[in-house]
Amino acid sequence: MCGIVGYTGPREAYPIIIKGLKRLEYRGYDSTGVALQNSSGLKVYKKKGKVAELEDYIVGKDLHSNIGIGHTRWATHGEPSDRNAHPHQSSSGKLAMIHNGIIENYSQLKKELTNKGYNFTSDTDTEVLLNFIEEIKKNNQCDLEEAVRIALKRVTGAYVILLLDEDNPDTIIAARKGSPLVIGIGKGEHFLGSDASPMLEYTKEVVYINDYELAIVKPDELILKNLGNEKITPYVQKLDIELAAIEKGGYEHFMLKEIFEQPQTIYDCLRGRLDAAEGTITMSGIQQYAEQIVSASRIVMIACGTSWHAGLVAEYIFEELCRINVEVEYASEFRYRNPVINKGDVIIAISQSGETADTLVAIEKAKEQGAIILGVVNVVGSSIARISHAGAYTHAGPEIGVASTKAFTAQLAVLTMIALKIGYIKGTISEERYQNLLNELQEIPEKAAWTLKHSDSIKALAEKYKDARDFLYLGRGYNFPVALEGALKLKEISYIHAEGYPAAEMKHGPIALVDEELPVVFVATKDTYHEKVVSNMQEIKARKGKVISVITEGDEVSRELSNDVMIIPEADEILAPMLSVIPLQLLAYYIGVAKGCDVDKPRNLAKSVTVE
Ligand code: AGP
Repeated sequence: MCGIVGYTGPREAYPIIIKGLKRLEYRGYDSTGVALQNSSGLKVYKKKGKVAELEDYIVGKDLHSNIGIGHTRWATHGEPSDRNAHPHQSSSGKLAMIHNGIIENYSQLKKELTNKGYNFTSDTDTEVLLNFIEEIKKNNQCDLEEAVRIALKRVTGAYVILLLDEDNPDTIIAARKGSPLVIGIGKGEHFLGSDASPMLEYTKEVVYINDYELAIVKPDELILKNLGNEKITPYVQKLDIELAAIEKGGYEHFMLKEIFEQPQTIYDCLRGRLDAAEGTITMSGIQQYAEQIVSASRIVMIACGTSWHAGLVAEYIFEELCRINVEVEYASEFRYRNPVINKGDVIIAISQSGETADTLVAIEKAKEQGAIILGVVNVVGSSIARISHAGAYTHAGPEIGVASTKAFTAQLAVLTMIALKIGYIKGTISEERYQNLLNELQEIPEKAAWTLKHSDSIKALAEKYKDARDFLYLGRGYNFPVALEGALKLKEISYIHAEGYPAAEMKHGPIALVDEELPVVFVATKDTYHEKVVSNMQEIKARKGKVISVITEGDEVSRELSNDVMIIPEADEILAPMLSVIPLQLLAYYIGVAKGCDVDKPRNLAKSVTVE
């Protein structure tokens, strides 16, 4: 997510802003910038890259100012670049703005402004909103505050904006809907931030701004209003948390924060794309290649690690809904083989970072041989996103924990939407099943929240099993890849050996491992394969193995057979992996913590494997 900082008061603004941006680096970003205001006008300094690079870039420039705004950008519209970095300046040059969020109807607004002669220097929705505000100010002959109010009633999406105006050199105008904004109250000065970390060292008195509120912030005055121009009394709170805690949103680790973010990140992934009421899935990147995908004789999923597991789930989904042959390849194997790639083959590259070397090289190779490359990537403007012909971003926000959690469920959400869209176009899915799945998919964020709410028993499970030497994870069908993912999470977070396996494969060897010491985790949610999985559970019980099961709420048969259970709500088997993986993420996390492991930065691992 983007980072926002603002200051107005008697001190030099630049040092406060730049230090505040560094406090927000943990949020993940790809470019950064500041806007400062002094007697010689508005100055904007911005560039792609890290805050430290911005500092080098603006050495020697005019940085004197008692008011300023700063931004770290996590790209959503327009790839990371100097021109797409914030702050943006309006056409007149008299306004500067930073923004965190997504303006969903920006293309409509851009069309209107272009018809009125506006030109744009960037690909961002932010610049469109800024010029829309300026156009209203000019047209309605109103002040900036009123223009902001009118504009925000017209936009859909999420925003926090901070605005500087050359004509009001000591005032910052701020507004929010759906993205966080905190205002710190100082003596004759005010601080603004996406969270309290940029202001903690100056003040612990803060006002959390609510949706649809607008703040007019001067050094010695904070005026709060709603979009109906009615004054609101600011509710000042005293902060009693330390800096380190804020960066993790109050969670002990980024990994736990990201696990609990999943209801929101799955929602963000669906937002603006899935419209169950209309029965539509809007994915422009996929739409432009829909014909080629529909007529493809095969789809090859290429990825590594957790992303490869997402590809395995997608194999079952695409074959079920689109009746297209799907192969799932480890990128590292694919790139060194001499794979057969036919023109018209569709490759789906799945990657959180978009920088995994094996995946990048594998798809470059496939592209040279005429395949169509679709990227399912989290980091906007990353290498894999850039060399793909098209694709869809997962919008999971920056994933800081090395173990991938929210990116995995977001990948599944995107891949499911693609398969539904293609299956519907191809006619390989009935209208009724299509509509049912859309309705159910829309409920997944809530079901993920339900799963997390019912997860407090997992901490106790972790205590009980943390000293086991080995684990087996078993599942069938859609839950087989979930078993693999659960095993990977445990391995990489707690360093305990864990193996994922198709449950039916046990009798071909691995069942020899089973004894009273071996915990066996079944992903046994109610689906087509459930009865068979129950028999597998009985086989393990008969050999005194410890059975820990992820089950569907109300499934008493599996509960009876299990030593311990983790519960998810009822869900269509195609969608269940987005839920059944959550208890396994938590089990790995709590066992890792119980063993004193560095769960955010496990030994030997990197967040993005950009080398072979
Ligand atoms: C998963 O928890 C690991 N961090 C790792 O397996 C990861 O999924 C893999 O390296 C692929 O990364 P990518 O999704 O960024 O391409």
